[in-house]
Amino acid sequence: NITARVFSGIQPTGIPHLGNYLGAIESWVSLQEEYSSVLYSIVDLHSITVPQNPAELQKNIMDMAASLLACGIDPNRSILFQQSQLDEEHKMSMILAANLAMFQCQHCYTWQMKSGSLKNEGSVGLFTYPVLQSADILLYKSTHVPVGEDQVQHLELAQDTARIFNRNYGDCFPIPKAILSCTKKVKSLRDPTAKMSKSDPQIIATVNLTDSPDEIVLKFRKAVTDFTSEVTYDPEGRPGVSNMVSIHAAVTGMSVEEVVSQSMGLDTAHYKLAVAEAVIQKLAPVRAEIERLRTDQGYLKDVLKRGTEKAKELATPVYQEIRRLVGF
Ligand code: ADP
Ligand code: NA
Repeated sequence: NITARVFSGIQPTGIPHLGNYLGAIESWVSLQEEYSSVLYSIVDLHSITVPQNPAELQKNIMDMAASLLACGIDPNRSILFQQSQLDEEHKMSMILAANLAMFQCQHCYTWQMKSGSLKNEGSVGLFTYPVLQSADILLYKSTHVPVGEDQVQHLELAQDTARIFNRNYGDCFPIPKAILSCTKKVKSLRDPTAKMSKSDPQIIATVNLTDSPDEIVLKFRKAVTDFTSEVTYDPEGRPGVSNMVSIHAAVTGMSVEEVVSQSMGLDTAHYKLAVAEAVIQKLAPVRAEIERLRTDQGYLKDVLKRGTEKAKELATPVYQEIRRLVGF
């Protein structure tokens, strides 16, 4: 008898952006309603696989915790915790790594994307990044994993890892399924053919959850669109305006058709300001709550500590089972 259990992780990149919120965190919030066992991990071990700054990492962990809570992750309904605080993660990762062939990591997305720019300096940890992800998922015998498109391949590796371990040592892990609900892709405001991303060097391309109303207006005013004075939805032909329409629909809960018909008469300059206004409305309570929680570091630490304890309760019996199967 397998308990349905949702697991997902997010890197502690500090304050999330609008893409993280609409594309991932909002669906995490609604999964709390649908499943009784839900774990969300702030995956700090993943963050140290590339050069990083320790003081910034610590701040970013707390900012991510504050942001997830402010967005509606409820520590009474989800286990919100910090990955590195569970010793079982490290041991599990080692055991799984021992069962995987090199080539299975070699072609994975993160390695392919990031190791190139690091010019052969890519760390062993970056290479085994998807193994650690598998450990995250399997340590709790998770059955469902909400993922973005770019993570599907890593989930496939986690599925393979579960199968390989089961074959080598006996049936132990359920094969985790992807939940691909997080498909609201938010594009960059400066290049609407690219996704909105934290790593975009153009500050103006990315809306962060703590941006002030003035900053949001400025970013939308400068957003790249075309010169046609009409609102239509045509992602191929008009990626800029279509990104505005998708964002507008996502923050108001309206459909794309409703948004378009309501905004038909506006030229793009005015439309961008209307969308900025809708984004400001949507983010106002989130922003205020992040600011409030940021001033209460004690509470944030306590939430993560309690989350870690609950995660440990689930991980301990699984790890005991694994070590018996492995023979130590
Ligand atoms: P970034 O690209 O800014 O580094 P991450 O890769 O850390 O963001 O993504 C964290 C989560 O947010 C993932 O689930 C990812 O699919 C989602 N996400 C990231 N950027 C976007 C976006 N522009 N639109 C929708 N979802 C996004
Ligand atoms: Na990323």
